[in-house]
Amino acid sequence: MSLQSELETLATFTDAPPPAVTRVVYSATDLRAREYVKGLCTAAGLAIREDAAGNIFARWQGADPALPAVATGSHIDAIPNAGGYDGTVGVLGGLEAIRILQRTGARPRRSIELVIFCAEEPTRFGIGCFGSRLLAGLLDPATLRDPDGRTLDDWRTAAGFHGDLAHVRLPAGRYSAFVELHIEQGPLLEQSGVPLGIVTAIAAPASLRLWIEGEGGHAGAVLMPQRRDAFCAAAEIVLAEEAGAKATGAIDTVATAGICEVFPGAINSIPSRVKLELDVRDIDEGRRDAVLAAIDRACEEVAARRGVTVRKELINRDAPAHCAPLVIDALTSAAERCGLAYRKMVSRAYHDSLFMSRIAPTAMLFIPCRGGVSHRPDEFATPEAIASGARVLSETLALLSDL
Ligand code: HGY
Ligand code: MN
Ligand code: MN
Repeated sequence: MSLQSELETLATFTDAPPPAVTRVVYSATDLRAREYVKGLCTAAGLAIREDAAGNIFARWQGADPALPAVATGSHIDAIPNAGGYDGTVGVLGGLEAIRILQRTGARPRRSIELVIFCAEEPTRFGIGCFGSRLLAGLLDPATLRDPDGRTLDDWRTAAGFHGDLAHVRLPAGRYSAFVELHIEQGPLLEQSGVPLGIVTAIAAPASLRLWIEGEGGHAGAVLMPQRRDAFCAAAEIVLAEEAGAKATGAIDTVATAGICEVFPGAINSIPSRVKLELDVRDIDEGRRDAVLAAIDRACEEVAARRGVTVRKELINRDAPAHCAPLVIDALTSAAERCGLAYRKMVSRAYHDSLFMSRIAPTAMLFIPCRGGVSHRPDEFATPEAIASGARVLSETLALLSDL
């Protein structure tokens, strides 16, 4: 079976009608997809381990197994109504990179380990990358709750993961390097006609949850001067978030409000309560934090002027990743050996690499995706681009495993 057909098969594990892919961590669909991928890894002769959170490790033993391994990998979970390439290209492309090396008959000095992180997307618990955060020792698992109050333990044990979470954190020095293959999720490579992106930095994401409480009432009977409309207050806060992002003057500052729940949600009832979730990013942490400060100021001013209350919960506020020259150089050499053009670039999307960079020298390899589209059913990368990415990743792993 080819890499392309494996990707197409993996995309059939979805809770949305194809070509959309919805695959939320610990769902029955996610578990079936995991079994499929583990089957491919087993067929490639890789030794498989799963940790208590559900991170999967598939190892190709090197000639010197005592040495820290080189790791590659990504995720197979997908947000609702997404596409078939986000994350999966790094998992199945990573497996293909290992199979390419196996076909040479050579055995690497260092073991090479494919990591399938249990959940890169924030869908289940509202925070992204909880699997790699746990591996890096950056998250207290007891803080994870879904909107219905179900905990990580509730979900993982129901999915069959019963081990002790205290053993998930990887020991220091576990990997000598980590490299992730991923679609760009932006238009730059396609627009510039360059087949590869070597990622030098990963943007610093922050996300926060706001509850705005006003006063409900009859949409016809309550006169405007008496209103404390929670949704109008929320709207002003979202526009202040947008203005704050634009005010930095930097193209790398981005912000949006991806979740907005209005209560009671009736056309003829004044909103009494709104839940907002905001996402703010920049490659520069200071600029990112300036937007958070603008949001804080807007919350206070709008609350005072409109007579509403605003409760804030910071979900995450992460530093950016500056990728490791060791891995960037290996990617550069590999691309040149493969005769493929590349450009150095930053990643505005976050990835598990953001947290792997805290525990191992890390960098990423991007391939173009059509129109820069991602997190949509029409997300697409050509078989040629994916094959090139796997080939350069293979060369990179070979170089890193012999260091
Ligand atoms: O949101 C992100 O940057 C990632 O695609 N989950
Ligand atoms: Mn994604
Ligand atoms: Mn991804």
